[in-house]
Amino acid sequence: MRFDILTLFPGMFTGPLTESILKRAQQAGLVDIHLHHIRNYATDRHHTTDDTPYGGGAGMVMKVEPLAAALRTILSPAPSGAPDTPDTPDTPVAHPDAPPTLVLLMSPDGPLFTQAMAEEFSHWQRLVLVCGRYEGVDERVRTTLIDREVSIGEYVITGGELAAMVVVDAVARLVPGVLDEASTTEESYSGGLLEYPHYTRPAEWEGQPVPPVLVSGHHAEVAKWRRLQSLRRTLQRRPDLFVRAAAQGFLTLDDIKLLTSL
Ligand SMILES: C[S@@+](CC[C@H](N)C(=O)[O-])C[C@H]1O[C@@H](n2cnc3c(N)ncnc32)[C@H](O)[C@@H]1O
Repeated sequence: MRFDILTLFPGMFTGPLTESILKRAQQAGLVDIHLHHIRNYATDRHHTTDDTPYGGGAGMVMKVEPLAAALRTILSPAPSGAPDTPDTPDTPVAHPDAPPTLVLLMSPDGPLFTQAMAEEFSHWQRLVLVCGRYEGVDERVRTTLIDREVSIGEYVITGGELAAMVVVDAVARLVPGVLDEASTTEESYSGGLLEYPHYTRPAEWEGQPVPPVLVSGHHAEVAKWRRLQSLRRTLQRRPDLFVRAAAQGFLTLDDIKLLTSL
C-alpha cells in the first residue's frame, strides 16, 4: 500500500516512520511512504505557501495554489515532479481489486478517526494525506481537492503532521503481512469491544499473581475468561460501544448471558 504525505515539515516524519513496525513494513515492501514538501510546489520567488485571511483576523491560511499543484502532480498518472523521497514504481498492492486513491485532509473539525475507518482505509491502494498548518487550509482546497477529512480527536494540535502519523500507523499495521493477523483481529475496537487484560512472566509480582486460568493450559477456559474480561472492561469503560457492537453482530447469545451476570 502506498502513502503520500503532503507537508510543510517533512523532517518531522523521521523517527515515527523509520522505526519499528513501519520501518520493517517498508523494508519488506508491504508499505511505501512518500513525503512531499508543499513548498516545492509554490511558484513565486519566495515559495510562499500561506497568506493572511480574507476578512482579517489572527493567523495565516495555507494557500490553495501550492496544494492544488502538489496534489495534481502527485495524482497525475505520469508525475512530472519528483517526490522528496524516491519513487518505487512496483509498490505492492495489498488488495488488487481495491479502489485506487483516497485523498484525506487532517482536520480537527472532520469526522473522528476510528478503527473502523483505519480498516476501511487499509483497503485502498493509496492514501494521500494533506497536513494543514496555521489556521488551516483555504476552504477551496477542502471543497475541490479532498475526498475525506479526518480528525484524530476533539482538540487542536499545531499541524496535521502528527495526525497523519497516527493515521499512517493505524492503517499500515492492518495491511496484510505487516503484523500477525491474530494480533490485529483481537484488538480493542476491532471486534467491537475493548480487549482483555494481558499478563506475562513472572507468574507472581509483589504479591500479585496472574489469574490462575491463564497458567492452567486450558485453552477453552482461557478463551472464555478473555471474552468475559473483554465484556467487563467494555462495560466499565465504554458501555456506549455495546450498541454498535450489537448492531454489527459482534455480540453472541453467550455474551449477552455473560453481560447479564456482570
Ligand atoms: C492549528 S490547526 C488549525 C485549527 C483550525 N483553525 C480550527 O480551529 O479548526 C492547524 C492544522 O493542524 C491539523 N490539526 C489540528 N488538530 C487536528 C486534529 N485534532 N485532527 C487532525 N488534524 C488536526 C489540521 O491539519 C489543521 O489544519
